[in-house]
Amino acid sequence: MYKSEQLAHSLKLLIENGTWKANQKLPSLRQQVEQSGLSLITVMNAYQELEAQGLIYSKEKSGYFVAAQQTKETVHAINEKIEINSIVFKYLKSIQSENIIPLGSAFPNSQLLYSAKLIQTLGQLARQRRSYEQTPSLPPGNYELRKIIAQKYAMQGIPTDPSDIVITSGGLDALNLSLQALTHAGDYILLQQTIFYGAWQAAERLGLKVITIPEHPVHGIDLDAFEQAILKYPIKVCMLMLNSQNPIGFTVSDEIKLELAKLLNKHQIYLIEDDVYEELHYDQKKPLSMKYFDQQNWVLHCSSFSKTLGAGFRIGWVYAGKFSEHIQHSQLMSTLSVNSFIQNALVEYLSHRHYEKHLKTLRSTLQRFKKQYFNYLKNHLPDSCQIHYYPSGYFLWIELPEQVNSNVIYHTMLEHGVSITPSHLFNITDQNHHFIRINCSFEINERIQNALNLLVEIIQNQMNG
Ligand SMILES: Cc1ncc(COP(=O)(O)O)c(C=O)c1O
Repeated sequence: MYKSEQLAHSLKLLIENGTWKANQKLPSLRQQVEQSGLSLITVMNAYQELEAQGLIYSKEKSGYFVAAQQTKETVHAINEKIEINSIVFKYLKSIQSENIIPLGSAFPNSQLLYSAKLIQTLGQLARQRRSYEQTPSLPPGNYELRKIIAQKYAMQGIPTDPSDIVITSGGLDALNLSLQALTHAGDYILLQQTIFYGAWQAAERLGLKVITIPEHPVHGIDLDAFEQAILKYPIKVCMLMLNSQNPIGFTVSDEIKLELAKLLNKHQIYLIEDDVYEELHYDQKKPLSMKYFDQQNWVLHCSSFSKTLGAGFRIGWVYAGKFSEHIQHSQLMSTLSVNSFIQNALVEYLSHRHYEKHLKTLRSTLQRFKKQYFNYLKNHLPDSCQIHYYPSGYFLWIELPEQVNSNVIYHTMLEHGVSITPSHLFNITDQNHHFIRINCSFEINERIQNALNLLVEIIQNQMNG
């Protein structure tokens, strides 16, 4: 991006997020030059660009002013029939081989998970017959484990009783069971336009229709679009990610979460919150979940240990509240119970301070790696590629120029033994796929560096036609 485009972009955000109000005077060209350190010509180009977009207007001898924004009718996409599972299946199969460099993997580098203390605990318990007994682990799951999880909620100021929690086979099972409890085939649900493919698969499995709302460039979630959709369509339930959103990465602010909670209550609508990355924040303070703002119990909060201890354990949970019973009934008809041995091991492991220590190391490693990937790609990708960096998790979301097709990038990379994730796996409504997701949880060694160089080269080749 040129400097004038960058300036125009950041000024546009100030207008769109309401920091600059309609008819407010913009800093003069001279003031802007002083503030930004850019040249007069760059600032003039930026202002002219915003004027051309109708975002500002000029008055002779008075300067530039913010134009009143048109109240735009939000574009909701309606998806009557979801067919994504076979695409996801094919994609996951294609990147499964151990020889493929896994920049397309959804899982963090397993070297950073499976903590040594937990493996030691598993070894000790493996020799005790009672740790395999299934009865104490039948739905809703091991009581001690639910108690520990309930305490974690309480520490965040969310009063929770172990009976609110149901242990599930990972976060995906928690999402599926929750959606199943709240919907019937043919119902409408609301999703973010760009979202983890598991949410689309869940909708497909249950024969649901999906309304999507576009992402807000500043707030992550567009509350106007959200409310308009609820007013316009008979939406039964929403399923959203608000912390370290996969694939984009943003975390929605507390202010917006509070407003969202008010809307759920006002329109009496349930939210299934997918929060499996909740622990992978880089800030000191863990982001609050929607459950914190939910006074009237409209939120079912789903999470798991997959992104912190390992997806191989398949342990997740849902804060199901009054839906606990219903969800347990479904479990009895599908998985029966979640692995009792692993539940016992987690109780033992989580009862000490091991988990907190492990999380501290995991977070700082992921933060370091992600910054390294960002810097490397920033220095090597053409300026017209925008790397969306957010301080949490282990994904980078990269916006390529519109003429670049991310699916072609994926196939070409795969021919060279490297995976990346193209955007059509997350967004089934937009036909213009020019985004990719990169997993940054693998240390940049020579092999990874070669893979990143290959990515840069393939993007450049596509850009040059
Ligand atoms: C956003 C999101 N939700 C849920 C899941 C599923 O998590 P689990 O492995 O605990 O089932 C994933 C896994 O990639 C994910 O990225």
